[in-house]
Amino acid sequence: MKAVRIHHYGGIDALKYEEAPKPEIGPDEILIKVVAAGINPIDWKMREGYMKETSKLHFPFILGWDVSGIVEDTGVLVSQFAKGDRVYSRSDTSRNGAYAEYIAVRASEVAFVPDSIPLNFAAAIPLAAQTAWAGLFEQGNLRKGQSILIHGASGGVGSFAVQFAKLVQAHIIATTSTKNVDFVKSLGANEVIDYTKEDFSNKVKNMDFVFDTIGKETQKKSWGALKKGGVLVSTVGADTKEAELHNVTAKSFMVNSNGARLQEISGLVDDNKIKVIIEKEFPLAEVKEAHKLSQEGHVRGKIILNM
Ligand SMILES: NC(=O)c1ccc[n+]([C@@H]2O[C@H](COP(=O)([O-])OP(=O)(O)OC[C@H]3O[C@@H](n4cnc5c(N)ncnc54)[C@H](OP(=O)(O)O)[C@@H]3O)[C@@H](O)[C@H]2O)c1
Repeated sequence: MKAVRIHHYGGIDALKYEEAPKPEIGPDEILIKVVAAGINPIDWKMREGYMKETSKLHFPFILGWDVSGIVEDTGVLVSQFAKGDRVYSRSDTSRNGAYAEYIAVRASEVAFVPDSIPLNFAAAIPLAAQTAWAGLFEQGNLRKGQSILIHGASGGVGSFAVQFAKLVQAHIIATTSTKNVDFVKSLGANEVIDYTKEDFSNKVKNMDFVFDTIGKETQKKSWGALKKGGVLVSTVGADTKEAELHNVTAKSFMVNSNGARLQEISGLVDDNKIKVIIEKEFPLAEVKEAHKLSQEGHVRGKIILNM
């Protein structure tokens, strides 16, 4: 099959469009004929070897852990999916990914795609939406009426986080740059702070929750935005010692893959409660351009790769 593989850690030129063996499935797995792969920052972080101490890759390796496509084959223990089903998944990052014609995925990580959006757009959902969901509701227990500050609100994770927070009627303050202010308001934020013009830490105080997808200075300035006993949940690592000094809780997490959670999100998309925002589509052969764009750090919503 055609695939994009890396044979070593490295820059964009490590990505090779080439022939690779078609994956084989285990008894509890599904073979998906890939229609699209979603691009996430973890793709280029893995490529560059940022995570090699904790998640060592075995080369040659296929990147990409967001997939939408059609079931081609199922293992003997799989009963809930059948050949021809339209499915999607955030697959296991320790296994070969979705920059390929086929991917093998555990059935427990798969859900049926929303009927209301094109199949390739569904590849934008699994990793980012599940991260936002897990961060807000599983790590942080965001509830109706609470106040939340969402950093990076126009990005892949942030754009889903704003919409999920809106669903539970939280009061949302969000940070983004000038070009995305109206966009983030349209997703449901009550107040949007343009980080290129204003320092949020001068005006945002007494929040119940901070959802941090940015880290560094942004996280440092966020402790003072929380009320005593508040919680900061971060997708990029949280400084728990600093949190203690401010009498708040800090949590960081790595989202797991969960087909049942993803199925619930499919329902919200079909009910028109959650929008999927695609900034740009690329063909698989132009994966280098897609990585370059993601790595610049200013994507609005998501990038997808079409097979
Ligand atoms: N722990 C996990 O399980 C997990 C899962 C998913 C993602 N992540 C990590 O979470 C981070 C975010 O992921 P993502 O997919 O959302 O990334 P992304 O789509 O690339 O996010 C880009 C967004 O960040 C915004 N941004 C950049 N600098 C900002 C600042 N100083 N303040 C506010 N917004 C700013 C940009 O808005 P402007 O263009 O307006 O600047 C852009 O819309 C990444 O580091 C990723 O690796 C972790």
